[in-house]
Amino acid sequence: MTATRRTLIAGNWKMNGKSADGVALATAVAEKMKSGGSVPFDMLVSPPFTLISKVYDAIKGSGVLLGGQDCHTGVSGANTGDISAEMLKDLGCDAVIVGHSERRTDHNESSELVAAKASAAHGAGLIAIICIGETEAERDAGKTLDVNGAQVAGSVPAGSTAKNTVIAYEPVWAIGTGRTPTNDEVQEVHAFIRAELAKKVGADEAGAMRILYGGSMKPGNAKDLIALKDVDGGLIGGASLNADDFWAIGEASK
Ligand code: PGA
Repeated sequence: MTATRRTLIAGNWKMNGKSADGVALATAVAEKMKSGGSVPFDMLVSPPFTLISKVYDAIKGSGVLLGGQDCHTGVSGANTGDISAEMLKDLGCDAVIVGHSERRTDHNESSELVAAKASAAHGAGLIAIICIGETEAERDAGKTLDVNGAQVAGSVPAGSTAKNTVIAYEPVWAIGTGRTPTNDEVQEVHAFIRAELAKKVGADEAGAMRILYGGSMKPGNAKDLIALKDVDGGLIGGASLNADDFWAIGEASK
């Protein structure tokens, strides 16, 4: 975290939430944001597609940002079951997560596809939150930096800037497991990612681009993680499903 990069606390609800509990969660986050006054961080929620409109209504005017969890590479067309970035924008979204490891694994998404999705997000005027991260086997084999370097090179499209792009470093083995790398390990990877980004987007944009940490971030570990020099916030799964915990992570980042 540095004064020049505004902290982003981003919630990824994944495939959780029906009408009533999704709206209740969004309303609770919005209330906290409104009563929190002027906070030194951005807060974003990414509900499942089915809840985007309802969540939009629930958070309207609160300053809480809205994101999707995935998008197609195209604008419209014969793509049954897919949602375009333009559609998310039309519903009032500010951002979209692309390349989450659950999509890379469950849907065989390659970095090339992730870059095309990020590009589509940019085209629609959305911030692309591009996820990268190594598996446990890759970490054990000493390939952490190689894997993340390759994912930056392959997943960050031309035209990416500090304004339209956020990187989320999420070690796959830390997601939903309660395990995290040490703070030193997190800082090492984030600094490396920023250096790799500089090769793609130039030093100025890389220096201003937010790099979030994700993977078992909780109120108890958020302060130390977000205090790290090259960590600019968090992408939070489990703890974003509880408004008190999610807000506590924002507070811990101050
Ligand atoms: P987690 O998920 O916070 O539940 O580990 C993070 C993520 O997958 O974005």
